[in-house]
Amino acid sequence: MKKLLVTGGMGFIGSNFIREFIEKYEIVNLDKLTYAGNPANLKDIDGHPNYEFVKGDICDEKIVEECMEKGIDAVINFAAETHVDRSIMYAGDFIQTDVYGSFVLLEAAKKFGIERFLQISTDEVYGEIEVGLFKETDQLNPRNPYSASKTGADRLASSYHNTYGLYTVIVRPSNNYGPFQYPEKLIPLFTTNAIDGKSLPIYGDGSQIRDWLFVKDNCEAIEMLLSKGKAGEAYNVGGENERTNMEITKKILEVTGKDESIIKYVEDRPGHDKRYALDNTKINKLGWKPRHDFDEAMERTIRWYMENEGWWRPIKSGEFKKYYKEKYGE
Ligand code: NAD
Ligand code: DAU
Repeated sequence: MKKLLVTGGMGFIGSNFIREFIEKYEIVNLDKLTYAGNPANLKDIDGHPNYEFVKGDICDEKIVEECMEKGIDAVINFAAETHVDRSIMYAGDFIQTDVYGSFVLLEAAKKFGIERFLQISTDEVYGEIEVGLFKETDQLNPRNPYSASKTGADRLASSYHNTYGLYTVIVRPSNNYGPFQYPEKLIPLFTTNAIDGKSLPIYGDGSQIRDWLFVKDNCEAIEMLLSKGKAGEAYNVGGENERTNMEITKKILEVTGKDESIIKYVEDRPGHDKRYALDNTKINKLGWKPRHDFDEAMERTIRWYMENEGWWRPIKSGEFKKYYKEKYGE
């Protein structure tokens, strides 16, 4: 059985990945437990014989090397500061974790002769696109501190293949949705606010477009790329479900049974990217395509938040409250 070092495994996508593949791999989960890292996300696999949790920072060379010494075959780097709005407020944290932390992991992977290094990048590295789809060979044009930091890590991973021959694979997923997403992001924020009858703060006119990918489909793509991804290559993972933010909002209102009066138009995000859209041809050729129907998986996701108040209420009354107050003064 292969042994993986998964970083950021207490976050949204990492925890979904670990739960999905814990029977197939031994997994060491290295996570700093920032505001976004939540042990409750993996409570159900605590004590599993294939699972070990290490609390630590990917920027800390010593702890990273201690993890590598556990006999790791492959690294999947999910750990990052991930919220665009926070990157506008505190850009330095993003440079530190997303760029420097990735560098520390790449150095350790080189030193320990790790077989595969998957860098989880993002569709945001291309910047916005008004019409058409981005291919992996298109120019990168990140437009906010989060996506610029992620681009730094993406290119750094590529350089470690080109310069040192490290087997790196870069994964560029579109917007994920599903259970266990921190309620600062559009879908869990609007769903949990709607449940409480609070306002839904839509940026600008709500016409921006994202391509929504169910988190399980993303995890399956990542797991496939562990074995099928080619060294030094990047792969788009698009959901093939483009929706405006207003369409997403209306779906949330419909499932939670609330009306449009709770929509509140607020000042737009500075530098807001209008649309992201990916060409999936390259990963389709390896045999992956999204399996989940958008309407069904989206409704299931909204219902998960409705049925799991015990998961999100402690978050929203803790660190999140301070963040929201700083942002909106309420
Ligand atoms: P998240 O914010 O939910 O979780 C991030 C996790 O990383 C948390 O558990 C946090 O504690 C941990 N972490 C942060 N800094 C760390 C550090 N210095 N050392 C160790 N651990 C640290 O993020 P997510 O939405 O699950 O995203 C996971 C990855 O996927 C990120 O790299 C993100 O850029 C990328 N991505 C996310 C999406 C999306 O829609 N959520 C889409 C494309 C790509
Ligand atoms: O595209 C992939 C990226 O998707 C990931 O790399 C990021 O880690 C992830 O956070 C996400 O970035 P976005 O900025 O697209 O996600 P967010 O949920 O913050 O916003 C989605 C859209 O909704 C965006 O157009 C901004 C809008 N929005 C968001 C919030 C939080 C609002 O209108 N109001 C809000 O309160």
